[in-house]
Amino acid sequence: MKLDWSHTVLNINNKERILDFYTNILDFKVSDRGLLAENGPEIIFISQNPKEHHQLAFVVDRDEVGSHSSLNHLSFRVDSFDELKEAKLKLDSINHDYLPLCHGNALSFYFNDPENNGLEIFFDTPWDIDQPQAVAWDPELDEKNALKWVEKTFKNEPSFVIREESNKEFVNRK
Ligand SMILES: [Fe+2]
Repeated sequence: MKLDWSHTVLNINNKERILDFYTNILDFKVSDRGLLAENGPEIIFISQNPKEHHQLAFVVDRDEVGSHSSLNHLSFRVDSFDELKEAKLKLDSINHDYLPLCHGNALSFYFNDPENNGLEIFFDTPWDIDQPQAVAWDPELDEKNALKWVEKTFKNEPSFVIREESNKEFVNRK
C-alpha cells in the first residue's frame, strides 16, 4: 500500500481572516464550499493544483465542531481500489473503527489514529462532482460493484461529470 499525501482539513474560527490570508496572500483559490450537513458546519475547500480538488479545507466554527485542535483530518490517496481494501483489512485486523464515506469523486475510509487525530484514506472514482458530498458506502463491495453503486448514487446530481471532462481551472467560489 502506497499512501500519497493529498490534503489536510483544519478546524477554524474566523473564516474571513483565514480566507483573506490563504487566497490573497498565498494565492489559493476557493474550489468549493458548502454545508457538511443540513445545518452545517460549513466546509471551504481551497487548492492551487488542478489535480487536487482541495489541498486544504477548513471546517468553520471550531468551537461548534467540538474540537480543541485545529486538525480535522490528514488525507492520503491510494492509486488502486485494492490498496483501499488492503487498508480496510489492516484496520479490521486490529478491530479498528472506520467510517466508509463516498464523496462521489472518491471512496474513503475515515478513522482516528491512537491519539484521536483524524485520518482519511481514499481512492479516486472516475468522476467529479461539486463538494461537499458524503454518503456511506458498503466496504464489502468489490471494485466493479462499488463503482456501479457510486454512479447510481450520484448520477442525478447536475454537477456529476467524468473527471476528464470537468473544468480543471478553479475560479474563486463565493
Ligand atoms: Fe478529506
